[in-house]
Amino acid sequence: PTQAADALVFFGATGDLAYKQIFPALQGLLARGLLDMPIIGVAKSGWTLAQLQDRARASLQEHGGVNEAAFARLCAQLQYIDGDYHDPATFTALRAALGPAQHPLHYLAIPPSLFGPVTQALAASGCAQGARIVVEKPFGHDLASAQALNRTIHQVFSEASVFRIDHYLGKEAVQNLLYLRFANGFLEPLLSRDHVQAIQLTMAETFGVAGRGRFYEEVGAIRDVVQNHMLQVLSLLLMDAPAHADHDAIRDSAAALLRAVRTLNPGEVVRGQYQGYTQEPDVAPGSQVETYAALRFHVDSWRWAGVPIDVRVGKRLPVTATAVTVFFKPPPQQMFGDARPSANFLRLHLTPGVQVTLGLNTKRPGAGLHGEADELVLHRQHWDGLAPYERLLGDALAGDLTLFAREDEVEEAWRIVQDVLGSAAPLWPYAPGSWGPRRPTPCWARTVPGSTPTRPRGHPGPA
Ligand code: BG6
Repeated sequence: PTQAADALVFFGATGDLAYKQIFPALQGLLARGLLDMPIIGVAKSGWTLAQLQDRARASLQEHGGVNEAAFARLCAQLQYIDGDYHDPATFTALRAALGPAQHPLHYLAIPPSLFGPVTQALAASGCAQGARIVVEKPFGHDLASAQALNRTIHQVFSEASVFRIDHYLGKEAVQNLLYLRFANGFLEPLLSRDHVQAIQLTMAETFGVAGRGRFYEEVGAIRDVVQNHMLQVLSLLLMDAPAHADHDAIRDSAAALLRAVRTLNPGEVVRGQYQGYTQEPDVAPGSQVETYAALRFHVDSWRWAGVPIDVRVGKRLPVTATAVTVFFKPPPQQMFGDARPSANFLRLHLTPGVQVTLGLNTKRPGAGLHGEADELVLHRQHWDGLAPYERLLGDALAGDLTLFAREDEVEEAWRIVQDVLGSAAPLWPYAPGSWGPRRPTPCWARTVPGSTPTRPRGHPGPA
C-alpha cells in the first residue's frame, strides 16, 4: 500500500505555475482538511517567507478568492527556502525543514532542464528517501527527449514514485468519461467498428496565445495539446475495459490503446496558423508554428480498425469548447424516404461544464412519417468539479497514480505524433474566429453531419 505524503515541497515557489495553480490548489486542500503537513516552497528569488505569503494571497485573490481560515493555516504551515538549485546548501536546508517527514512529495514546478540537477541533489541530501515527485508538462520535446527525461528521473525515482501531470486528466468531465463507459453496460457493445462510423474530437479556444508567445513558439498546437491532452482523452474513450479501477489496470488499458494507434502520417495532417499570430509578442516574424491542427488517427485493433478518428485543435476559433463525438452507422435501409437523415451520435462535452448528449432522429409531429434531428441531453453537470490541480495534487499526496501519465503512455504518445512535428505538414493561414484554414479542406472535415461542436441550448459556461 502506498504511504500518504507527510510533507509537500514545491520547487518554483515564486513562479508562474505556483501563482496560477498551486496556491489555489493548496488553499482548496487545506479547506478540506487534506493538507495537515509542512508545506515548503523553494526558489531562488532572494525572497523572504513574508514575501511568499503576500504572493500567495495575491494569487488567491486573483484565482477564486481568499478563504481566510484556510489561508491562515497556509501561512502557519508554509516555509520558504531561498536558494540555488545547483547549491548543495539549498538541499541541506530542505532536509532540515522536512524535520521528521518520511514521505515528502516534491513538486518540480521548474523547467525540465533542472529535473536532473534537482533530482540528483534530492538524492545526495537524503530528501529523496521515501519520497515521490510530481512533474509538469511539457514532458519532453519529442520522443528522444522524453526518453532522456525518463532516464534522468529514474536514476533517482522509480516509476511508482513519479506523478506526471496532465491537467486534462484532472477534469471532472474526463473522469466522467471513464465512469460513464464502465459504470453502464449499454454503451460498451456500441463502441466498436461494428456500430461506429467515425469519431471526432475538437478542442476549440477563442483566445490566441495570450501572452505565452515565447512558450508557444517552442511547442505549437500538436506538442501543446495533442501529444498530451487529446491522446489522453482518446485513450480513455477507446481503450478496452480495465479489469478493475486500480491505477495500473487503468493505465495498462490506456497504454495498450496508445500502442495500437498508428504513427501519424503528415499527409493526413493539416496545420494552420491564425492571421496575426506573427504579430504577437515574442513570436518570430516568419514563424511556421501551428496554432491549429486537424489530424486523422487510425487505431489498428480489432475493435477500431477502419474507424477514422479525427482530432482538431485550435486557437482563435469561434467557441471555447472541447467535445468528443462518436458517430454511429446509419440504419441499413432508409425506410422513410427522408432525404438525408442525420447520423446518430453520442457527444461528450468536456469543457466548459460536463454534458452528455445523444443525437437521434425523431418523427416530426403531424401527418406522414417525416423526421427531424433531435439532441437529447442524457446528463448535465453544471459544476466543473474540483479544480484539476486540486484533485491531482490531492491524489499525488495520497499516492494515487490513476490520473497521472505513465512513462510508457508518454513515450507512445510522442511516437504517435513524432512524424508530424515541426514543419512536416504545410502550414495554412486562417482568419481569427473561423473554424481553421479553408484550404486545404481536410478531406474528412465535413464528411459527418453535425460535426461542428456548436453549443447546444442551455449548455453551461462561456461562449
Ligand atoms: C494547456 C495549454 O495545457 O491547456 C494551453 O498549454 C491550453 O494552450 C490549455 O489553452 C487548455 O486547458 P483548459 O483547462 O483551459 O481547457
